[in-house]
Amino acid sequence: MGVMCGVFAVSAESRTDAGELTLQGLRRLEYRGYDSWGFAVRGSDGPATITKDVGKISEADIAFPSSGEVISHSRWATHGGVTQANAHPHRVGRVTLVHNGICENYAALKQAFPGHEYVSETDTEVIARVIDHYLGQGMGPVAAIRQAVEQIEGRYAVVCFIDGQAGIYAARRGSPLIIGRNETETYIASDIPAFLTETNVVNYLDDDEMVHIVGGKAEYFNLTTGASVQKRDIAVQWQYEQAEKGDFAHFMIKEITEQKDTLKAAIDHTDTELNRAVNLLRECNGAYFIACGTAHKAAMVAEYFFAEVSRRKVNIVAASEMKYFQQFVNDRTAMIAVSQSGETADTLEELQKAQTKGAKILSLTNVVSSSMARMSDVHLPINAGPEQAVASTKAATAQMALLLLLAYAESGRTNEGRELLHTVAGNVNDMINPRYEEHIAEIAKSIVERENLFIIGRGALAPMAYEAAIKIQEVSYIHAQGFAAGELKHGPIALITDGVPVIVLGDDLETISNATELKARGAHLIGVSAQRDDIFDEWIRVPDCGTAQCIASIIPVQILSYHLAVLRGVDPDKPRNLAKSVTVK
Ligand code: G6P
Repeated sequence: MGVMCGVFAVSAESRTDAGELTLQGLRRLEYRGYDSWGFAVRGSDGPATITKDVGKISEADIAFPSSGEVISHSRWATHGGVTQANAHPHRVGRVTLVHNGICENYAALKQAFPGHEYVSETDTEVIARVIDHYLGQGMGPVAAIRQAVEQIEGRYAVVCFIDGQAGIYAARRGSPLIIGRNETETYIASDIPAFLTETNVVNYLDDDEMVHIVGGKAEYFNLTTGASVQKRDIAVQWQYEQAEKGDFAHFMIKEITEQKDTLKAAIDHTDTELNRAVNLLRECNGAYFIACGTAHKAAMVAEYFFAEVSRRKVNIVAASEMKYFQQFVNDRTAMIAVSQSGETADTLEELQKAQTKGAKILSLTNVVSSSMARMSDVHLPINAGPEQAVASTKAATAQMALLLLLAYAESGRTNEGRELLHTVAGNVNDMINPRYEEHIAEIAKSIVERENLFIIGRGALAPMAYEAAIKIQEVSYIHAQGFAAGELKHGPIALITDGVPVIVLGDDLETISNATELKARGAHLIGVSAQRDDIFDEWIRVPDCGTAQCIASIIPVQILSYHLAVLRGVDPDKPRNLAKSVTVK
């Protein structure tokens, strides 16, 4: 059924190693999906040869025939089994196709276009079937693809070969596709790191556009009108090395460590850039921050930042819940999207709804070319560099740093905010070092056998308790739950028994008093705070960062989660069932 996956295709006329090249590139997209993979390799004549299987692409061993044109796919199944038959590419008649997204009306389309024996349970095979149908009626490839994708309901990115036609065709609505190009080669990928070793010159395929690539040439068309579209070449700033693991065992720990620098980069915005965002906020009389997952927990701290720093009440809503509040959105509303990828379907869809009502859109994303960034009235990049581990770390702290700066900017105290955040960045730089990590790794050893653990915090540290739980759950599979410290005694305290670990974020009087109640019931307290309190059984120091305490405090928990994952034998970069970029609803 629907998938949200990594897509990578290469057309390189003069090369013979496109198979190997695609394999390497697809591995860099593995964060998007990793339950099965597939390649369609085009030889000098005849249809493309398909190789596909279940499992991780990083572990696949494939001998490719010599070829200059390959389409590939790394899958994350939403429904439907993880089977070889369901892995992409899918072939129907003349069409060999991979797909990212969801074809909601696949069942109706199957009925409307009978005459094909389906070999998979996917919603993808029918897309190939419909394109092949129109080709069979004598349409050219562009016309056939336009006719076919016009009938798809839902979001998609499709990439295909057509027998007898040179090059590769791709179309998009809602799921990202980026074209990379040099003089003799063109690439189509779900994300830039796939081809960064080869080129940093890109074109962005927009919604309702398609592209045909052959060698170093790319021709673009509007899907609705069929008219040709001209694209501007853009040189992206990301360096290939940034997207590599280097000496680190995993991307997760590499990205955690990069927070030594990313906090500074996150707030690297001029007054003019910040003021555009501030003006948007000031001109509106309601503000909704929407986001998903870790980005949502990062956005939740904005409620505390704006209350404390700029005395403004803002609303934070999980994007998947926003539809219940869309009735309050109008042309005086500011919608603020917080997202690493800028592509998360739930967030994107709510932004689109709000935009049609005239709301103003401000987005904070890491991927500057993302759909959210491009549809926004004002976009502020969080400048974290490519984040590849599924568990978001450096993007989350970058989001929080920028949100805090925004709150200061809105209250007319931009420089005060900058100074504070520069100090925090310096403190974090000092804090992250091998000794610090070793200390946390030791604590991880002492709790690794536990099946349950809890995290508490107050104020902006409450959302960090929720975020801490996400981090621990997603990479170590330990059942972890975060609570606002004061809420604990209203129920969850019943779960505290002898030795249950509780991470206490903060050292203020009230939090310590809550922690004392837990200690009295046998909890094993791990303090994460600036001051050591006597009741802590273990203590992880974080520097005193004032309003920005939440930013520094989540970092030791990220490190702890990482070590719990490694100790439990989980690959922290690719935990089960998850995907980094969730482009389906
Ligand atoms: C997925 C990822 C999370 C991320 C969330 C939102 O669930 O696993 O790490 O926080 O999507 O993604 P976004 O790209 O919008 O920040």
